Amino acid sequence: MRYAETGYHLEIDLSRGNIERVETDLRLTELYLGGLGTNAKILWDRVPPEVEPFSPDNLLIFSAGLLCGTPAFCANRTIVSTISPQTRLMAFSMMGGFWAPELKRAGYDKIIIRGKSPHLVYLWINNDKVEIRDARHLQGKGTIETAELICREIKEPEAQVAAIGLAGENRVYHASIQAGKGSCSRLGVGAIMGDKNLKAIAVRGTKDIHIARPAEFMELCNELLKYIDHRLKNPLDKGVPTSQLATLGVQEFADPDEGWHMSMFAAGNARYRRKDFWTKEIAEEWKRIHEERLERLVSCYNCPVKCGGLVSHPEIKRRHMLKCSQHVRYIAAARSDNYNFGFKISCLGDEYGIDGFSAPTLMAFAIELYEDGILTDKDMPGFPSNDEDRFFYLLEKIVRREGIGDILANGTYAAARQIGEGAEAYDHNSIKKHEQAPLKLGMMNPFYYLMYCTGEKINITQIEGQFPQNPPETREEREDFIKDWIQVPNERIKEYFLNWEPRSFPYNPPIQACCEIVDWMEMMHYIDDCTGICTLVSSFAMKPPYHIHNFPHIISAATGLDIDEAELVKVTKRTRNLVRAINIRRGMRKADEKPPENHWKHRFPELEAKLLDEYYKFKGWDNQGIPTKEFLHELGMDYVFEDFEMRGIYSDN
Ligand code: MTE
Ligand code: MTE
Ligand code: MG
Repeated sequence: MRYAETGYHLEIDLSRGNIERVETDLRLTELYLGGLGTNAKILWDRVPPEVEPFSPDNLLIFSAGLLCGTPAFCANRTIVSTISPQTRLMAFSMMGGFWAPELKRAGYDKIIIRGKSPHLVYLWINNDKVEIRDARHLQGKGTIETAELICREIKEPEAQVAAIGLAGENRVYHASIQAGKGSCSRLGVGAIMGDKNLKAIAVRGTKDIHIARPAEFMELCNELLKYIDHRLKNPLDKGVPTSQLATLGVQEFADPDEGWHMSMFAAGNARYRRKDFWTKEIAEEWKRIHEERLERLVSCYNCPVKCGGLVSHPEIKRRHMLKCSQHVRYIAAARSDNYNFGFKISCLGDEYGIDGFSAPTLMAFAIELYEDGILTDKDMPGFPSNDEDRFFYLLEKIVRREGIGDILANGTYAAARQIGEGAEAYDHNSIKKHEQAPLKLGMMNPFYYLMYCTGEKINITQIEGQFPQNPPETREEREDFIKDWIQVPNERIKEYFLNWEPRSFPYNPPIQACCEIVDWMEMMHYIDDCTGICTLVSSFAMKPPYHIHNFPHIISAATGLDIDEAELVKVTKRTRNLVRAINIRRGMRKADEKPPENHWKHRFPELEAKLLDEYYKFKGWDNQGIPTKEFLHELGMDYVFEDFEMRGIYSDN
């Protein structure tokens, strides 16, 4: 009997129309947990670096996290992994909602998709019955529209459906996969799904998921709930050291105050901050519109937090769940102050299935090129005169790959190089060919510097959290903060925080401390992405309910594997290094590991160089950021260094 997981994968070959149910090896769960960890192992074993993103040999893996579907609160993430068309590195994209728990109840931990169907199809997984069905009649349909049509067709209103829209069908490099209350948004996972001619996956599951030690497990869950309840009633003060993430689960939609998002992030094509944007008048106007647009607050599966908003716009037929800030991102990029515009375009973007972070930056980039004469009316016939209309114009072109949209659909980095004539200089907010959240800040921050350089998802939200972004002014405030800081991995972290004088930044905390802090933050994200726990109650939140000291008990009671803290740290390192190894094998090197030049006004080149070198050493990587032979051996991953040696990866340095 397998616990927490089902012990089965579905292997689907779309070229041959073959479906197999395959029993998995428990040893792989012990070594890599599940979710992102075991996805990485499958990609390492089966997708060599020669495989192009749009090759039938590229795999598209939909995985439930290890704890999904168990009573562990907020265990609901689906982790989609493949090779990204944009970065050509490993993509791992997440969504919440209800899809992953449904897959587990149907009896599978993962669906591994290979090949390409000769025409558009969808999968219908109804417990043991799995079918590949014709989807030609769904061509061009929106993501939620597709889910509605499929549910009607299969006569199963309870089915959970993950689908692509026009953007995915047309292999737009930042196409997303949408599942009603969740979105696998970044790095073009929707384009790979479209390339495989897979429109959607509908799942219905009614089986049980077994827990190894149920009484102990439920007690741990009850403790978590008590803490979540406490945190919701006693949110950390937003103002002090902690940024907006201080509040548990962000709870974006409970709070219409978008002042932080609008003044912290950059406007247009990530050019400048509108520091005085958030006035009393705007706050009142946006609050009124927020109440109009918001139908109710909603949660993902088994989550008490309700951080999402079910929203609608009179001109868009279907309701969408928004969390966080993509609607605001569109407003800022379009230099608009119209809150309704944000709702309209992000609902439309979700229906077309497009990443709400990359898309606004890309559109603002196109507008800038037009304003500066690099793109002209010949490239954009009938281009409207105001930015909001221009965004709708560009959205339609991009998702259809029509005219200039065909170039823009390849993302800012590639489009800039295709357009030429100096357009490269306008692509100033990418790392590893991927658009970043538009932040242009003052002083270099050593934690964020390391996160931007080395993050494997190439997305800051995959590392940050836990440690405050800025120190509180006084020692008394810092002493107060550490009093109930049980989530830290060791007492040293508290010590670093205590001695963190605002004036000594960025030289204090010392480099060693920065390494430890960033490593801890990242480790927690990897645990979430393996177990399927939402980061907003874990790695991404300040003083969260899930942490390194209770995770081992929760995982052990659920799976029966008896993983203690030291072992969990080791398992996580294994996964983290395997993801890196996939990227190294695909050519990623130190030269790629840098934030955009103008990310901070004040840079510290010497300190930055030292930070990166020391962090590489701390992580067990060589001076190119490649995991060393000794370190891989320690992790029991000789197979990785043997492969590196065979390919001459070490000797190329
Ligand atoms: N949970 C995990 N495990 N991994 C993640 O990357 N991202 C968080 C949150 N939970 C994240 C996660 C962030 S920043 C947001 S805005 C929401 O998930 C996005 O939810 P969605 O992926 O369902 O759209
Ligand atoms: N794009 C769409 N369409 N919908 C979303 O909810 N969330 C944004 C961004 N793009 C979002 C989106 C946020 S807040 C984050 S942190 C990232 O996607 C999450 O990336 P992932 O879904 O690839 O893990
Ligand atoms: Mg997501």
